[in-house]
Amino acid sequence: MNSDRLIVFDTTLRDGEQSPGASMTKDEKVRIAKQLERLRVDVIEAGFAAASPGDFEAVRAVAESVKDSTVCSLARATTSDIDAAGKAVAPAARGRIHTFIATSPIHMEKKLRMNPDQVVEAAIAAVRHALSFTDDVEFSAEDAVRSDIDFLVRVFGEVIKAGATTINVPDTVGYSVPGQWGERMRQLIERTPGADRVVWSTHCHNDLGMAVANSLSAVLNGARQVECTINGLGERAGNASLEEIVMAVKTRRDVFACDSNIDTTQIVPSSRLVSQITGYPVQPNKAVVGANAFAHESGIHQDGVLKHRETYEIMRAEDVGWSANRIVLGKLSGRNAFRQRLEELGVAPSSEQALNEAFSRFKELADRKSEIFDEDLQAIVAGEAGPSSERYKLISMSQSSEMGEKPVSRVVFSIGGEEVRVESEGNGPVDATVKAIEKEAKSGAELLLFSVNAITTGTESQGEVTMRLQKAGRVVNGVGADPDIVVASAIAYLNALNRLSTAPKANPQQP
Ligand code: KIV
Ligand code: ZN
Repeated sequence: MNSDRLIVFDTTLRDGEQSPGASMTKDEKVRIAKQLERLRVDVIEAGFAAASPGDFEAVRAVAESVKDSTVCSLARATTSDIDAAGKAVAPAARGRIHTFIATSPIHMEKKLRMNPDQVVEAAIAAVRHALSFTDDVEFSAEDAVRSDIDFLVRVFGEVIKAGATTINVPDTVGYSVPGQWGERMRQLIERTPGADRVVWSTHCHNDLGMAVANSLSAVLNGARQVECTINGLGERAGNASLEEIVMAVKTRRDVFACDSNIDTTQIVPSSRLVSQITGYPVQPNKAVVGANAFAHESGIHQDGVLKHRETYEIMRAEDVGWSANRIVLGKLSGRNAFRQRLEELGVAPSSEQALNEAFSRFKELADRKSEIFDEDLQAIVAGEAGPSSERYKLISMSQSSEMGEKPVSRVVFSIGGEEVRVESEGNGPVDATVKAIEKEAKSGAELLLFSVNAITTGTESQGEVTMRLQKAGRVVNGVGADPDIVVASAIAYLNALNRLSTAPKANPQQP
């Protein structure tokens, strides 16, 4: 089944969510899924429905709201996981079940405690059961990279016979190198009985920084589905990044005999949204979506680009959505214009109440900042209070700092609806603010990361703060945006505390 169409399978909402602290609420997942639909990804892996009732609801909500992309749930090769996945994707216009079982000796022996025959049996049974819910069934051999190729040929041959329609070959631990990975894909397609009846897929992790290179090598050798995530988010060092794969095949059509259906102008807005929601900033030198990806620093380069853009640019910034940095609304803009722009951006809240709250935050911001950009609107919506955000809420704050003196921060916030007033000194204003909040919140959480980025250009920009907290082995990211970076820090810290106060999610790769 080799065609010139590359199927883009986005797993930001599932594997991406397995990044430390990137756990998303149902509403956040729906917001990202709607943006992925605008990006025109073919398949959205919305989560792991069997993990918890919350995960089930999130997959179902995505299945209900997305119309143009296939919506998929991951499921281990067990009846109960597949039942949950089947029910969760049932409302989708097109639903897929993605079932998997590990096939490497180390995983079979040490993790599953199953012998190879039992694994083959479980894989066949899983695919057959999944087919009772949908005719779109994907099978993955977890840790295929360290699996015996003869065994992979056997398992894949059997699941194709059982009716699987997509066969995914994962480099679960990011161990492969491009030449080897491409060769493995080529041999699997050549040797597996029924290989021509299915779509071959690749799913690469980035532990050695080769996830994109490995995925592209698989494509050169016959894979026609790539599993990837926005900004390369994912378990440990992440997954192959969608934007890099898509732009590589588009820019180098001379090398890849295929292209995707992605609307590349939606790449940067997708990257921004995922970064804002997960609290994972994008490194400035990240290919395609990093702030420097199209910035020319050296005089020789600047001169060249001014004379003829293509002297130093192989892609156009506007083709990947960089033109989005526009002033869109101002202080006098009304609710309808606000709603319309959010709809155009694909981030309009679903309820009237959430829209009203977002609108009043927009008005507050417009009073303090004369130019409102798309990125500001996305930050406003990303900061929209979900049910989990209710426990801790910032009411007001003030702080004083003077050179040579210890800054003091006074914070008024609510805990479960009860207002508290706290004050503390600190080494700097952010330290004072966090210490003040901790006086009453008493979380005892450890701060792992504190980062501040400007959302747009200029000193008027809102600061976007990420605070990563760890408590009892659990890691969460809190995000906050405000023109005052100390206020943004307080919002981010309280947001992280809210996330810590919700139940942790299960990881499908742990039995
Ligand atoms: O990395 C992996 O093997 C996975 C599978 C579940 C596809 O995420
Ligand atoms: Zn993975």
